[in-house]
Amino acid sequence: MPRLAASVALAALAACVVASPVAEPAITEAPKLAKRATSCTFSGSSGAASASASQKSCSTIILSDIAVPSGTTLELTDMEEDTTIIFEGETTWGYEEWDGPLLEISGTSITIEGATDAYLNPDGSRWWDGEGSDGGVTKPKFFYAHDLTDSTITNLYIYNTPVQAVSIDNCDGLTITDMTINSEAGDSEGGANTDGFDIGSSTNVVITGAEVYNQDDCVAVNSGTDITFENGVCSGGHGLSIGSVGGRDDNTVDTVTFYNNEVKSSVNGIRIKAIEGDTGSITGVTYQEITLEDISGYGILIEQNYDGGDLDGGTPTSGIPITDLTLDNISGVDAVESGGYNIVIVCGSSGCSDWTWTDVDVTGGSTYSDCENAPDDISC
Ligand SMILES: *[C@@H]1O[C@H](CO)[C@@H](O)[C@H](O)[C@H]1NC(C)=O
Repeated sequence: MPRLAASVALAALAACVVASPVAEPAITEAPKLAKRATSCTFSGSSGAASASASQKSCSTIILSDIAVPSGTTLELTDMEEDTTIIFEGETTWGYEEWDGPLLEISGTSITIEGATDAYLNPDGSRWWDGEGSDGGVTKPKFFYAHDLTDSTITNLYIYNTPVQAVSIDNCDGLTITDMTINSEAGDSEGGANTDGFDIGSSTNVVITGAEVYNQDDCVAVNSGTDITFENGVCSGGHGLSIGSVGGRDDNTVDTVTFYNNEVKSSVNGIRIKAIEGDTGSITGVTYQEITLEDISGYGILIEQNYDGGDLDGGTPTSGIPITDLTLDNISGVDAVESGGYNIVIVCGSSGCSDWTWTDVDVTGGSTYSDCENAPDDISC
């Protein structure tokens, strides 16, 4: 069925298809029949509030052409386990200057899907003023994927976020497959701090097949364990980042893998930032099979003197050691533009150890001459 016809048909089903109030079936050998099997469809400007109000009674929540009113969150944080959420058509949000988030989903064994041709359109260009989250109008964060356990998000297409797109926090077991975050228009229309994925205090997170077009980190891991970002494309932003680490409640990064990703038209390719003077640890980070292209600032930047800006920090410190760092097959021949640096390493006196770098080929820019305390015969 064509998408339009499908949504008309679904709209005709009206708000919520509630199962008839029949008691649990007496037939005990088919206990599955007793499970809640209610599919609810919500749409239009009342859909977000109705979905939030009814979420516990629906096993499948279909969000069809939802128009979320300004200043409100499309919030699904109180569902039963094993609930499925399906976005259909275009989801929109009204304009208001506030912190957001515009969308928040939490729960256990939650399946979140975008239907074919569905897209989430916060139309961030209405807020863009070139100042991101540092000034100008207050801009809402887009999607809090917080407190999700053993859950999946598949095939979501997100278009033009006001600032940061997807915040992953306090999740355990979350797989995100084929997500597109397309804020490319922000390159010319004043988008800033439009991070793709910001990850904190989470374990067992896999993001596979993501495409991110934005103006800040493609992915930034601030803390967490067993995080994988693979088969992704990053364009226009600040690259594949760890950190900045330091100064939060959780400052431990352990076992993060970036595998088979392409970073193009970006300020940085690979970046690890530890905040000067803070404590924590960054261990077991692997970058493997990474292709770089058109990098303006730094092909690889690893610093233990981060203070909010790149390369203008003071003396690097060792309180957030970067250990067991693997770089393998980093392809960046002629990838760095002439004004940039190929590799910058600024470590504290005992801050960096047990690094294994093989087939790291990043050229095109300048060689950094003030490399500090790089371990294991690795140089800038
Ligand atoms: C290195 O990475 C490139 C790009 O991902 C890939 O095509 C190639 O097979 C890799 N080489 C090895 C030796 O793994």
